[in-house]
Amino acid sequence: MEFKDIVMQRYATKQFDGRMIEEAKLFALLDIIRYSPSAFNLQPWKIKVVTASKIKANLRPHANDQPQITSCSHLLVFCANAELEPLVDKVVDGMRSGGMAADTVRQYEAMMKGYVASMNPEQRMSFAREQIHIALANAVNGAKSLGIDSCPMGGFDPAAFAEVLFLPEEYVPVVLCAIGYAADTPPPKWRLPREEVFF
Ligand SMILES: Cc1cc2nc3c(=O)[nH]c(=O)nc-3n(C[C@H](O)[C@H](O)[C@H](O)COP(=O)(O)O)c2cc1C
Repeated sequence: MEFKDIVMQRYATKQFDGRMIEEAKLFALLDIIRYSPSAFNLQPWKIKVVTASKIKANLRPHANDQPQITSCSHLLVFCANAELEPLVDKVVDGMRSGGMAADTVRQYEAMMKGYVASMNPEQRMSFAREQIHIALANAVNGAKSLGIDSCPMGGFDPAAFAEVLFLPEEYVPVVLCAIGYAADTPPPKWRLPREEVFF
């Protein structure tokens, strides 16, 4: 499938048929998500993969009772990880093990540390939140490329999700992506005309 067709044919699925995604396909999708770009390659996200029906049922009331939560195969809970210093250290390790010249690594490390140090906690959180939406975009289009349907979802209560999922305090739910096989039909696509989007 051409990328253009993936983008045009993907839609926010409202009802899934309950079939589970095969493990190999799921891992292919998780890798697409994992390879998403992020500023400084910091990857300030943690993604909880929810499969258990009981947990999905407990989450649904905290997502405006949306049926995607319980009918999907897997629910991906994209959480912001605003603890950036340890991520800087990991990126530095990654660059070293990738064989980057020691001087270049040192310069990059200083730049990243300066950038991170310049941000207060709110700025770190909004940094993480905005990076996450890049991973979300890869999730929905990546899913379609593998024959999987999806629904990005912002209509949920992050605090209640954190409680139900026993998330560590540093991982803050930002957006969901329900994935599975559609049991509905795509509505007609509507987008703003080109001249209203680009100038
Ligand atoms: C960040 C974000 C949050 C969204 N939240 C919800 C949601 O809570 N429930 C839902 O059914 N759709 C949700 N959507 C889907 C949008 O409504 C949908 O993408 C948009 O109407 C365009 O339709 P299409 O994706 O089918 O082309 C969300 C989409 C995004 C990107």
